[in-house]
Amino acid sequence: MDYIKRKIITEDGSITYRIDDLKENYHSLYGAVTESYFVYLNEGLNYWFQKRNQCECNILELGYGTGLMAYMSFVESNKIRKSIDYTSLEPFPMTIEETKILEYDKFFDSSYISMNFKKFSSIIWEQAQDLSPYFRIAKKQTCFENFKSQNYFDIIFYDAFGYNAQPELWEPNLMRKCFELLNPGGVWVSYCAKGSVRRGLKKAGFKVFRLPGPPGKREMLRAVKE
Ligand SMILES: C[S@@+](CC[C@H](N)C(=O)[O-])C[C@H]1O[C@@H](n2cnc3c(N)ncnc32)[C@H](O)[C@@H]1O
Repeated sequence: MDYIKRKIITEDGSITYRIDDLKENYHSLYGAVTESYFVYLNEGLNYWFQKRNQCECNILELGYGTGLMAYMSFVESNKIRKSIDYTSLEPFPMTIEETKILEYDKFFDSSYISMNFKKFSSIIWEQAQDLSPYFRIAKKQTCFENFKSQNYFDIIFYDAFGYNAQPELWEPNLMRKCFELLNPGGVWVSYCAKGSVRRGLKKAGFKVFRLPGPPGKREMLRAVKE
């Protein structure tokens, strides 16, 4: 996936990239930070912590992309003082040059930032690292299809490119894989609300919820392994 990326400033002022050849953006043009926070942090992470009343959770993200969601989760863990063990998969990591211009830290409350985005982006791959008392991350250069894990997860951030660009990532067999990777009570969350994905999730065994979407999107999905 050696595509040319074009920088775009989204509606909330945060930067994303667009791959013209795929007709895909890494984030919503209505706001990269706004949508990521809405879908994954609020409807995924904060929902899970509210429901489960636990102090720590394991998150799996597909795929790491710019690192925005990983960084956002890192900042959030400092804010809510709950532990997150974060695993992120990305077969096509960005270069340091590409991440350098993103400067996502300026969108978050500095009192909860213990490492800036530039330093966060330079964390090495494949080796789990503790970045704070609340946040451990392992970035893995692999695709979801090949990912194997001995651990189970509490939350999956399913942030693949859209169905039109990568339909194979939205097929029922991978929804089944998500189901198998989750602990009971685990939550799968995504910006996608496509009917076939919903049906694939149901077939895999999930209870599926259509939720109001972030700015610019009518709906999003949360699926729960009961
Ligand atoms: C919508 S972007 C993710 C944005 C990211 N969550 C962020 O915060 O910037 C989709 C990502 O999935 C990655 N990807 C593509 N094929 C994949 C696969 N088979 N398994 C895992 N990730 C994949 C892409 O390279 C891209 O970085």
